Amino acid sequence: MATNHREEALRYAAQHQQAHLDELIEFLRIPSVSTQPERREEVREAAEWLAQAMRDAGLENARVIDTAGHPLVYSDWLHAGDNAPTVLVYGHYDVQPAEPEDQWRTAPFAPQVDGDYLIARGVSDDKGQVYIHVKAVEAYLHGAGSLPLNIKFIVEGEEEIGGPSLGEFVPQHKELLTADVAVISDSSMMAPDQPSIVYGLRGLCYMFVDVSGPDHDLHSGSFGGGIDNPINVLCHIVANLKDEHGRVLIPGFYDDVQPLDEEERELLAAVAVDENRVLQTTGAPAVWGEPEYSLLERLGARPTLDVNGIVGGYTGAGSKTIIPAAAHAKISMRLVSDQDPHEIAQLFEAYVMELAPPTVEVTITRNGMASPSINDFNTTAVAAASAAYGEVFGKEPLMRREGGSIPVVGDFQKHLGLGTVMMGFGLPDDRIHSPNERFYLPNYFRGIETMICFMDDFARRE
Ligand code: BES
Ligand code: MN
Ligand code: MN
Repeated sequence: MATNHREEALRYAAQHQQAHLDELIEFLRIPSVSTQPERREEVREAAEWLAQAMRDAGLENARVIDTAGHPLVYSDWLHAGDNAPTVLVYGHYDVQPAEPEDQWRTAPFAPQVDGDYLIARGVSDDKGQVYIHVKAVEAYLHGAGSLPLNIKFIVEGEEEIGGPSLGEFVPQHKELLTADVAVISDSSMMAPDQPSIVYGLRGLCYMFVDVSGPDHDLHSGSFGGGIDNPINVLCHIVANLKDEHGRVLIPGFYDDVQPLDEEERELLAAVAVDENRVLQTTGAPAVWGEPEYSLLERLGARPTLDVNGIVGGYTGAGSKTIIPAAAHAKISMRLVSDQDPHEIAQLFEAYVMELAPPTVEVTITRNGMASPSINDFNTTAVAAASAAYGEVFGKEPLMRREGGSIPVVGDFQKHLGLGTVMMGFGLPDDRIHSPNERFYLPNYFRGIETMICFMDDFARRE
């Protein structure tokens, strides 16, 4: 009977593709940029919209939960019986800023279908992938009358700013979130026909460094040589954070890095990362990084440090001769287990303060923090996910680590003892966080089918 339900759900999904696309477009029109204070109302609007979409899909108890920051969205359907497993679906409805908007070929919040792609901010990261789960549930509940397992959704509006509110919510609502496994679609496949399951994520430690000197910009002729320059100092600090091979120079930075064991090195070696592909995707003239590690290892299993933005002084047309009053940098470190973001923040602060001369004032502020995470992949949930991908895409997924961060995965592990299966449907060239973000539509629909198959398969294995 379960299999029958699965066929009914698949049929329902096939018959409703146009509606599933149209609704996603509506969701994408709401500019839910979590980091921009002026978008606060739109972020809430996206939460309300999603809660309503969940109700329409047949989910119960759908509600918008207020937090100190942006709201959470919860819903569930728990009528599969005590013997059936419970899946917790996580995703995020907030998106990155659209800037620089003039680099978009179509407006970021006016979604456009272009051939096989849907183009809009947040379409791959992560609204489209969240919506896959809502529609897979709808296919069962409207197409077959019931789900083969129990399901809960928790969707946040602060993932792109480090997820502070959900980080607090998880340990305080353990019972509400109890499940056998968490499933997240917020990552990508290797290629349109090659799925992958991500078992490792890097963590993040994000710092702002502000350097101030004189209390106003000075004439560089009158004062140059006598008053220190905040930009020069900031550049000196930044230049000392890393060597030319990509080694981070902060004392103690590598102390808690767990080396890859042979088994994992071999496993990762099987996931060929084509260097040319990376060059093509990025447009960079060459790859770079620690010579003793493979490209894939460098992109997922090694920690890094990067300056994300740096400003100061005069940057308008022409020239201006000044000693600027201030300089600012945003610096992030990607972490691997067992590095602790707060400990790394402390090491960073101590080292930068040591580099800072007494001729300027240096202020360091902690921003987003996320723990790295590694998930066991010898589980029935991963087996069910592999089988589901295999059925829909005709290829078993490859197991790999991912260099990005999803803060809540570590929290699920730590506070709920909950493992996560990351079943991404994006592609490496979706341009997430960049202008012209897109989602390959055939995989939007295959994603819905894959989740339908996963639920059926997982329920039967448990
Ligand atoms: N979906 C990404 C994480 C990701 C990126 C997974 C690429 C797989 C492939 C997520 O939305 C993200 O961008 N996270 C931020 C987290 C940070 C702000 C704490 C990140 O990694 O920069
Ligand atoms: Mn995301
Ligand atoms: Mn993101």
